[in-house]
Amino acid sequence: MTARIISGKALADELFAKVAAEAGRLARDHGLEPGLAVVLVGNNPASEIYVSSKSNKAVAAGMRSSMHKLPATASQDELLGIVRQLNDDRSVHGILVQLPLPPQIDTHQVIAAIAPAKDVDGFHPVNAGRLTTGLPALVPCTPLGCIRLAKTVHSSLAGLDAVVIGRSNIVGKPLAQLLLAENATVTIAHSRTRDLPAVTRRADLVFAATGRPQMVKRDWVKPGATIIDVGINRVAAAAGRQHIVGDVAFAEVAEVAGALTPVPGGVGPMTIACLMLNTLRAACGIAGLPVPDL
Ligand SMILES: NC(=O)c1ccc[n+]([C@@H]2O[C@H](COP(=O)([O-])OP(=O)(O)OC[C@H]3O[C@@H](n4cnc5c(N)ncnc54)[C@H](OP(=O)(O)O)[C@@H]3O)[C@@H](O)[C@H]2O)c1
Repeated sequence: MTARIISGKALADELFAKVAAEAGRLARDHGLEPGLAVVLVGNNPASEIYVSSKSNKAVAAGMRSSMHKLPATASQDELLGIVRQLNDDRSVHGILVQLPLPPQIDTHQVIAAIAPAKDVDGFHPVNAGRLTTGLPALVPCTPLGCIRLAKTVHSSLAGLDAVVIGRSNIVGKPLAQLLLAENATVTIAHSRTRDLPAVTRRADLVFAATGRPQMVKRDWVKPGATIIDVGINRVAAAAGRQHIVGDVAFAEVAEVAGALTPVPGGVGPMTIACLMLNTLRAACGIAGLPVPDL
């Protein structure tokens, strides 16, 4: 193995410690306790794990955390009612509605109902538009984490050729916008891209966000390139168990890449740390205090 393995866990711990220290300072100096409200509809086991770890982390950072659970049969109006209540709650600075939502719910309408100033997931069209036009915004947590991980290898991303595989609203598109803001030369690839391995082979930086287990192979990667693996895929393992792999064939790509994030322990922990950062930023923004640059 030649690639440097980028520890998302270590970087996330470092960021989390800074956020917790800043939250302590806000409480001490301004009597402000950032509050995160997490909304879960249904009982998808993966979503339940995600929301409880987000809530627990918020508490560990010295923030207020509340969980709002609705049954899988909840109606659009019930969910919108909760969102509006949280919009009006002055102790709540961040609102996160865990996705995916059940099929009877219009996800776009729910996201659009969240007050943009409390949209710590950064999915609201106002925040997406602000990001695209270069205005200060709450930015989606996973892309934020990806940029921070890439910057542990490259102090500047300016002029680098970056390929983002995936064009979802929650990962691929905002990640491409952040890379553009960092002056990278950005290609967004997707399921209709022709000869994807030839596209990724030209890249200094590859971000894989497809949900296709171990899709990026050794011969897709330019020697020395930095590979950030966003994928979280549950695949069958021995004895009926499941294990988690990324979108990158880790062992073979590690033989050619310059640096590579593992799964688990790469982008995942950074996503949660960036959610805490966004909650802190939202609280400062709402309170009219300077937003810390951590
Ligand atoms: N680590 C974290 O914290 C975190 C957070 C969010 C997501 N994730 C993971 O990241 C992955 C992507 O998530 P997502 O929400 O962005 O997924 P998504 O909404 O399903 O989007 C997947 C994207 O990948 C593209 N794609 C699919 N198959 C492809 C192929 N064979 N070749 C090229 N492109 C292909 C799709 O292209 P089309 O648009 O053409 O269909 C789409 O744009 C998933 O594994 C998810 O679990 C991780």
